[in-house]
Amino acid sequence: MQKNPIGVFDSGFGGLTVLKEFVKQMPKYDYLYFGDNARAPYGSRSFETVYHYTLECVKHLFNLNCNLVILACNTASAKALRTIQQKDLPIIAPDKRVLGVIRPTTEIIGNLSKTKHIGILGTSGTINSESYLVEIEKFFPEVKVYQEACPMWVPLIENNEINTPACDYFIERHINNLLAMSNKIDVIVLGCTHYPLIEAKIKKYLPKNITIIWQGPIVANALSNYLNRHPEIDSVCSKQNTQRFLTTDSALTFNNAAKLFFGSEIKAETIYF
Ligand code: DGL
Repeated sequence: MQKNPIGVFDSGFGGLTVLKEFVKQMPKYDYLYFGDNARAPYGSRSFETVYHYTLECVKHLFNLNCNLVILACNTASAKALRTIQQKDLPIIAPDKRVLGVIRPTTEIIGNLSKTKHIGILGTSGTINSESYLVEIEKFFPEVKVYQEACPMWVPLIENNEINTPACDYFIERHINNLLAMSNKIDVIVLGCTHYPLIEAKIKKYLPKNITIIWQGPIVANALSNYLNRHPEIDSVCSKQNTQRFLTTDSALTFNNAAKLFFGSEIKAETIYF
């Protein structure tokens, strides 16, 4: 196989927070980011819709020659990854790989909690899929998991309403709902790509003894380990330290949002497929 960039897929802008960590930890690789902004958000969509949209985008990244695709989206990882890995990949591209963001987090999360009571915050899709519950149970059956869906947080962040009373209201409300489930929670996972952008605000409503975990560094670390353990995949990833950005909607809007999510200026291209 020819060497090609690592595909990084998200429903929209959110996966840029994950890509940022990939570039920080593994700058030598080439990355092809693909945001399905025209159909975002995925968080409130049905299982079938998220699966079909995600599969379409993964196929597109395969057509652009990516040999490895990371679903840098919790909702897509929760609702589409398993079916794509088990049902689709063996038929459409047995030599290619698709990985997600939930497993790397659930593999280590039990080690970060002393009380073994962990809270998960995510989109309605991620929370209703119960993927975090199922995956944590596999690695840490002794851990108790509490979940809270925060459907208003993504729209507030995307509409640049972070520094408003409305944002505080919804943050406080969902944090209080989660904390009411158990007074033993000592670790909370930000199970959505957007939530790191409001981490400071979330902290405001949490007792000091609770640690907030976000996935970027964990997923980047897991990807680096994966590539070390799989030289056959690593050898087909090109390494020229480049990043290219594709969106299914306006490139201008994407470029503007990228400053917030990626932290630097980028130049996206719009693609229709
Ligand atoms: N990227 C999505 C996630 O991590 C959030 C945005 C959306 O709902 O599409 O779940």
